[in-house]
Amino acid sequence: MISIQSKKSLESVMDFMYAYLSLKAYFFTGRTKVMDTEYPNSEYVKIWRENFSISKPEKIVETIFAEPEFSCIDFCDTLDRASYFALIHPNHPNITLGFIKDADLWNIWLCEAPFSVARDVISEILNLGEDSTKIVDFGCGSVSPHYYGNIVGSKGIYTGIDHSHSILKIAENRIKSENLDWVNLKKFNIESKLIAKRKYDVVICSSILQYVNLKPVLKNAGEMVGYDGRIIIFSEVFSDLEPEKEKILKLYYSLIPNFKKFPSVSEILEILDLMGVCYKYKIVCKNILLLELVGR
Ligand SMILES: C[S@@+](CC[C@H](N)C(=O)[O-])C[C@H]1O[C@@H](n2cnc3c(N)ncnc32)[C@H](O)[C@@H]1O
Repeated sequence: MISIQSKKSLESVMDFMYAYLSLKAYFFTGRTKVMDTEYPNSEYVKIWRENFSISKPEKIVETIFAEPEFSCIDFCDTLDRASYFALIHPNHPNITLGFIKDADLWNIWLCEAPFSVARDVISEILNLGEDSTKIVDFGCGSVSPHYYGNIVGSKGIYTGIDHSHSILKIAENRIKSENLDWVNLKKFNIESKLIAKRKYDVVICSSILQYVNLKPVLKNAGEMVGYDGRIIIFSEVFSDLEPEKEKILKLYYSLIPNFKKFPSVSEILEILDLMGVCYKYKIVCKNILLLELVGR
């Protein structure tokens, strides 16, 4: 279903990202003295005081040197840079993390780890390319439509849904230049009720659940597969699986507009239970949850 190598590569990218951001967080607290100094953006100061702590510093240093994933550094450095400006104002113009305003930057990061690695692992788990899979991708971004479109080929269907018109424009240009006619893009907020015009086999939710309310999105996902299909979720962290990691990532991801909270596996399963959905689930690795819906 997934090779040990792929599982390890995704987990090690996320371990590296956690270690690198932990180190950045350590420097940040030293430079700003945020734990006992006041700043204009008191809400952000509060997030640091509630979440920052470093346990096992020697393990962090070891992880950084053991398997560095250099391609996620640009994204991490932007998060780190934004954290200093955020102390002054939550909407400081030097914070360049908006999905609409900074679509060109997101387009660069989405080509790199961890997003690129997650895509490879998702397509391996779903065995894409072997049949005419019908995929709908929630919060598709600018790179996945072209990536999955090429893998499913003309016998498959790929629909990408995203609320950022600027991100979709970049995706559309890529698709047009390669004549991927079986790729559809829709500008829509996945928290609003979606009308399923066809039944899909799979819903992909990759690095999206931290920006949305889970209930309406899982309801939409269930409807899209007719409560008989798969939902695959990649999250940089599931809060109940890795609570320590979640605290550090939250310090930085809270700077991304619309960030709400990282999902937890138990909350996702609870919502499906409340919806009356019959399902099986598998925690494929620390960052991937696979749900198989088998009716209502
Ligand atoms: C971190 S990117 C991930 C993109 C893609 N899934 C990937 O893995 O490459 C998150 C994407 O979700 C989109 N997004 C965030 N909230 C959304 C919402 N409520 N409805 C639709 N798209 C949303 C953003 O515009 C952005 O393109």
